[in-house]
Amino acid sequence: MANRIAPNPFTPKSGMEPKFFAGRDKEIELFHKKLVEAKHRRYDHFCILGEWGIGKTALFKEFKKIAQTRRILATYVSIREFQESDRFINATEHLITHIPRSLPLKFETLTNFKKFLSGVGVTLPFIGGGIQVSEKQLSGDPQALLLDALMRLWKDLKQQTDTIVVLLDDAQNYKPISGFLTIIKNVLSDDEIQKKTGYLFILTSTNIGWDEFLKKHHPIGRFFTPVLTLHNLSEEETHFLVQKSLDSTGVKVSKSILKKIYEYTEGHPYELQILCSYLYENQIGRKITVRSWDTSLGLTLENLGQILLDTLIREASDRERQLLKVLASVEYPLEWKSIIPLVKNMAKSFPSHSVGKFLSRLLEKGLIQQPKRGVYKLPDRMFREYILRLE
Ligand SMILES: Nc1ncnc2c1ncn2[C@@H]1O[C@H](COP(=O)(O)OP(=O)(O)OP(=O)(O)O)[C@@H](O)[C@H]1O
Ligand SMILES: [Mg+2]
Repeated sequence: MANRIAPNPFTPKSGMEPKFFAGRDKEIELFHKKLVEAKHRRYDHFCILGEWGIGKTALFKEFKKIAQTRRILATYVSIREFQESDRFINATEHLITHIPRSLPLKFETLTNFKKFLSGVGVTLPFIGGGIQVSEKQLSGDPQALLLDALMRLWKDLKQQTDTIVVLLDDAQNYKPISGFLTIIKNVLSDDEIQKKTGYLFILTSTNIGWDEFLKKHHPIGRFFTPVLTLHNLSEEETHFLVQKSLDSTGVKVSKSILKKIYEYTEGHPYELQILCSYLYENQIGRKITVRSWDTSLGLTLENLGQILLDTLIREASDRERQLLKVLASVEYPLEWKSIIPLVKNMAKSFPSHSVGKFLSRLLEKGLIQQPKRGVYKLPDRMFREYILRLE
């Protein structure tokens, strides 16, 4: 229909597969390299770190597709949030019941694995081809059970693939039972697993989450190497993403808006998907121009506020907020010395001698950054816009 507009090509949700996947050349190249090494029976389990919304899940979904085009089986597991009350056995149960879920094959064909599960008391009613664990909890030694499960699964699949790629997303969710990563490591270093199977494990985690594991369990860091950190997309990749996503929609974006998209999001995938999604909604006559900008930016900040920024800002005290506003009042990083008169100007009663103390608290909370000694800035442009709009 001539006057219909194509559905919104942007994906303003965490975990949503983008219509057009941009950048990540280095990470994809490394993955190809690891697949080749795995073919030669060298399984170099590695780790990908990145902050919220930077594209960890999207990259994993891409990895899965890449592996499968090469006829290598890959499975994606989203690690659920574990609690202090959880035990290793719960994590084992979660892992062994989720690993087969996203394998591109019929569960019924996994005869050895199915036998194993029923042997340990996990019954599997089939619902839409998926697996549901029975009320009865798995019991036994978590490490032995995980090892056994992986051995059996391998037996079922070794005719079809030379490697099974296991993508474990959000390993920081193991935090309350962080020793579970050591169990995974032990299983993967087991002689039998190394000699007889072909598993390649890849993890993602938030940076802070990973640091905490390393503090408690040093060898984990040496085991899951290399560690790649995901960063924002470049300006070129951002422009490419926006234009490619719009390609089949007939909607055009002006050059100045393209530039602004990068200027405000700095190539953060989640931020730019939300912003572009609103820009698309607010197009006029199939054109995204400066007329659509203010409304879309406002909606983006509202949306980011709800999911993230509000919680961050709630962690700041009144004094800390005043400092944030001072930092937001200019476009460049501020030196400690120039912050004092600015904050005094805004709030006369602000105790100058405490500026340093409040700045270090803001740093600890991740609400500001320190690009150089004695110099402070807000984490990004969106955050700045958000602070500027606060009451
Ligand atoms: N390389 C990419 N190209 C295009 N869009 C991307 C890319 N990476 C991520 N996105 C988009 O950005 C958004 C956030 O990505 P994703 O959910 O993968 O991030 P994440 O790091 O897993 O976030 P979370 O911390 O919420 O788990 C999604 O809408 C996704 O479609
Ligand atoms: Mg994710």
